[in-house]
Amino acid sequence: MNVVEIEGLSKMYETGFLKKKRNLALDGLDLQVKGGQIFGLLGGNGAGKTTTIKILMSLIFPTAGTARVLGRDAADVAMHSRIGYCPESPYFYDYLTANELMDYFGRLFGLDAAARKRKTDELLTEVGLAEKDRGRQLRKFSKGMLQRVGIAQSLINDPELVFFDEPMSGLDPIGRRDIRDLIAGLRAKGVSVFMSTHILSDTEALCDDVAILRAGRLAASGKLGDLLAKDDAGRSLIVEVQGVKADEIRGTVEFIGGATLEATPDGANITILDESDLDAVLAVIRKAGGRLTRVEPAKLSLEELFVRDTSA
Ligand SMILES: Nc1ncnc2c1ncn2[C@@H]1O[C@H](COP(=O)(O)OP(=O)(O)OP(=O)(O)O)[C@@H](O)[C@H]1O
Ligand SMILES: [Mg+2]
Repeated sequence: MNVVEIEGLSKMYETGFLKKKRNLALDGLDLQVKGGQIFGLLGGNGAGKTTTIKILMSLIFPTAGTARVLGRDAADVAMHSRIGYCPESPYFYDYLTANELMDYFGRLFGLDAAARKRKTDELLTEVGLAEKDRGRQLRKFSKGMLQRVGIAQSLINDPELVFFDEPMSGLDPIGRRDIRDLIAGLRAKGVSVFMSTHILSDTEALCDDVAILRAGRLAASGKLGDLLAKDDAGRSLIVEVQGVKADEIRGTVEFIGGATLEATPDGANITILDESDLDAVLAVIRKAGGRLTRVEPAKLSLEELFVRDTSA
């Protein structure tokens, strides 16, 4: 089942005197997100990630198109009790303490006092907020501490689906690891996650499907593994060898079914288009006295993909 369905979504921001400045933040976006996974919405600054999430949260309204969450219109109030949301750089009424804020959100969802206390302790522990900080006012919190509270707050109602807008922003390396583990743990519990990010290492560590936005349009989407495959069928392999002189075997290797060879300091990396060519390549290498050190699928790095699909 799709947890998010977006069709022909456009958003024009009108600002300035007499709303004369117009900025098309989303331009006919279509997107479907399957449940039970961690979905990553990628894109450079200003690509439209936050705008998309705010429309899904019904905080702003689209200029055209439709957005559905859990099969309901994004504006459906009843559906909102089944989802969670942590905004980009969350900001709360900051005279409350972390414990009070959690209690406040627990009340909004109708939890009784015992459940509120239990969920508050459990979630603040899970996001790694130290016990000594839980009774302090949020206005004394650092950016990363607020981020942790924001994530804890979004989970108080045991949502089926959570939206995180840049969940790792402001976090130190330990915080990033805590939140990464938490997000992976949500998937393991069957919670669907929709997150925006431009941190590529987090995307690679967490996301199943991704979509890349560029100037409010979809530049690419699908399973991360498929997008990173260098050819459509994902069958190319890189064969790393050592102990050979690249130039001595180049002629023979490049004779095998479209294989290409690139010299390395102590050998060569050979790209073959299909596994069936592997034996022939290995025979050449052994004959030349080289040894095989690695075989792996030929992949784009996420950075290559991101740069290709996000720059104009
Ligand atoms: N309230 C607003 N008024 C006018 N323009 C806006 C507003 N919010 C966003 N925009 C514009 O909409 C476009 C998309 O912005 P958005 O915040 O959705 O990007 P983003 O992908 O979340 O970027 P970032 O990675 O920097 O968070 C940008 O051109 C931005 O200037
Ligand atoms: Mg944003």
